[in-house]
Amino acid sequence: MPEADERKEKNFFPEITQKNRAFFLKGCNNFDWGTKNRLSKIFNPATEKTVMLAIDHGYFQGPTTGLERIDVTIVPLLQYSDTLMLTRGILRSIIPPTYPNGIVVRASGGPTVLKELSNEQIAMDIEDAIRLNAAAVAVQVFIGGEYETQSVHNMTKLVDMGQRYGIGVLGVTAVGKELVRDAKYMRLACRVCAELGATYVKTYYVEPDFDTVTASCPVPIVIAGGKKIPEPDALKMAYNAIQQGASGVDMGRNIFQAENPVAMIQAVRMVVHKNVKPQEAYEYYRGKIAQKNKG
Ligand code: R5P
Repeated sequence: MPEADERKEKNFFPEITQKNRAFFLKGCNNFDWGTKNRLSKIFNPATEKTVMLAIDHGYFQGPTTGLERIDVTIVPLLQYSDTLMLTRGILRSIIPPTYPNGIVVRASGGPTVLKELSNEQIAMDIEDAIRLNAAAVAVQVFIGGEYETQSVHNMTKLVDMGQRYGIGVLGVTAVGKELVRDAKYMRLACRVCAELGATYVKTYYVEPDFDTVTASCPVPIVIAGGKKIPEPDALKMAYNAIQQGASGVDMGRNIFQAENPVAMIQAVRMVVHKNVKPQEAYEYYRGKIAQKNKG
């Protein structure tokens, strides 16, 4: 039994009114404490942004260039990522459990590049996401695709499962080859994901009018990097997206396929978290490469 608290002077600070603080992420104030805590492991509360490192490509295309040996090429990048987006297979087999930041686990799958990609199903139980201490699960949503309804229902089922345990759902807007990637399509796809319960949404940066995509989506948006493009262009894309309302990047190939992935992820961080102009971030990147070549 604890000893009785017999101190006479207690301090109740009656002159200080307890404050109600709004949660820092757009549209996420009404989630429970657990969800908010997990989201704070994805988005940095100080900058309200995230650099997610996306390495889940193997779930449909096998050993993608740059991801042949995740233990060799990706583990050195972990310290610069706010969050890792990956499959549970790679998480369990390669990622050190001492990784301190958010984990977003790929929870949909099925077809590979050899088949119709939109024919995905839910590919994990929420119990396993909890076991892995996931901050969120990710699901591909193929708006306008052949299996549109099925993929939307994959997401809504995961939202229901996630809501039970306070685990967020990242709705990933997947654009089939036949669809036009423009602001009108992205507004539709992102808004549908948010309306149907996605905690946050991943989409592609498009020009013009990306600011209308972020403005019409009531929850945070992060952008995928997409196909490898020259490093200055990738930094410019990340910068433009952030300036137009994105809450971060979920970038894969433009980091791990860069000439120097360690330098690239640091340059991306400068753009996302410090609003550094893309040219300055690129000079930093070149400087890092020059330093390495000298040493
Ligand atoms: C794609 O389906 C995967 O989910 C990737 O995580 C996503 O495309 C982001 O990677 P990248 O920047 O390489 O496009």
